[in-house]
Amino acid sequence: MLKCEQLFPCRVPARRNDSLATIYVITPTYYRHTQMAELLRLSYTLLLVPNVHWIIVEDANIKTGRVTNLISRLEEVHKFRTITQLHARTPPEFKLKAGEPSWARPKGLWQRNAAIEWLRKSSSSIDSNGVVYFADDDNTYDLRVFEEMRNTLRVSIWPVALAGGLLVERPIVDDSAHGGKVVAFNSLWQPARPYPIDMAGFAVSVRHLLERTNAKFTPTKIGYMESLFLQQLISSWDELEPKADRCTKVYVWHTQTKSPQLHEERKLAKPSFSDLEW
Ligand code: UGA
Ligand code: MN
Repeated sequence: MLKCEQLFPCRVPARRNDSLATIYVITPTYYRHTQMAELLRLSYTLLLVPNVHWIIVEDANIKTGRVTNLISRLEEVHKFRTITQLHARTPPEFKLKAGEPSWARPKGLWQRNAAIEWLRKSSSSIDSNGVVYFADDDNTYDLRVFEEMRNTLRVSIWPVALAGGLLVERPIVDDSAHGGKVVAFNSLWQPARPYPIDMAGFAVSVRHLLERTNAKFTPTKIGYMESLFLQQLISSWDELEPKADRCTKVYVWHTQTKSPQLHEERKLAKPSFSDLEW
C-alpha cells in the first residue's frame, strides 16, 4: 500500500509537538447515509491539527466496522496519532421519533458523557494541561479554532456561525477589561438560556473539567444542554475566556447536512451499493 507521503508528498499530517497542550476532540456520531462523509471530512480537518486526541463515540451498542475501518485507515495510511473509539447508545425513549422535528430530542448527550467518563478513568495517562472540545461530526471547523482554544484556562468561548437562527450567534465582549469580558450575547432564540451558545462555541480545560467530578450533560428542555453543562463548570459570564479576537472572528460553522433523497433506490433490482466496498 502506498504511504500518505508518497501519495501527497507535500501534505503530511500535523506532527506532535511536545510544547503544545493536547486537544481532546469529542465527537458523537450515529449511523445515517451521510455518516461516513461527515466523519471523513472532519478527520481530514483534524489531521491538520497538531496534538489532537480524537474521541469518537458511536451512538450504538457496539463499535461498528465502518468506523473501525475508517480509524484504521487514518492511523495506518495517514499516521493520525491518537484516536479512541467508544460507543454509548442513546436510550430508545430519547431517540428522535419519525415525524418529530430534529430539535425535539437531545442529541449526542450520552456519547459526550461516555467520553467524559473515559477522560476521568484515564486521568493518570492523559494530558492534564489539555483541553476538551465537543466537536459534532457535521460542523465546519477553521483550523484556527483549535489554536484559539489550546490555551484555555477554565472555559473559553467564541462565536458560532449559522446557530440559534442567526448568521452568527456570539458573545459580546467589553474591551475595556483586561483580556476582554463577556458582557452580553446577541442570541434571540431562547434568550433566557444562562449561556446562550452552541456546543461548538466553547472548550473546557481538562484540569477544570476533571476537578468537577460530577460534571456531565443532562437531558433538559430544548436548547439548555450547553447551559446546564456550563453552569456546573463556572458561575458567571465573567469567568468566560473570550477567544477569536474578542469574539469578533468566525472560526466554526454549525453546518447541517441535508438528508439525501434516495427515492430511486427502491426501483433497482439490486441495491446500488450491493457490490461496493465503502
Ligand atoms: C445542535 C447542537 O449543535 C448539538 O451540539 C446539540 O447536541 C443538539 O443541537 C441538541 O440540542 O441536541 P444539531 O445539528 O441539531 O445540533 O444536532 P446533530 O448534529 O444532529 O447532533 C449532534 C451530534 O450528536 C452529532 O455529532 C451527531 O452525529 C450526534 N448524534 C445525533 C448522535 O450521536 N445520535 C443521534 O441520534 C443524533
Ligand atoms: Mn449538527
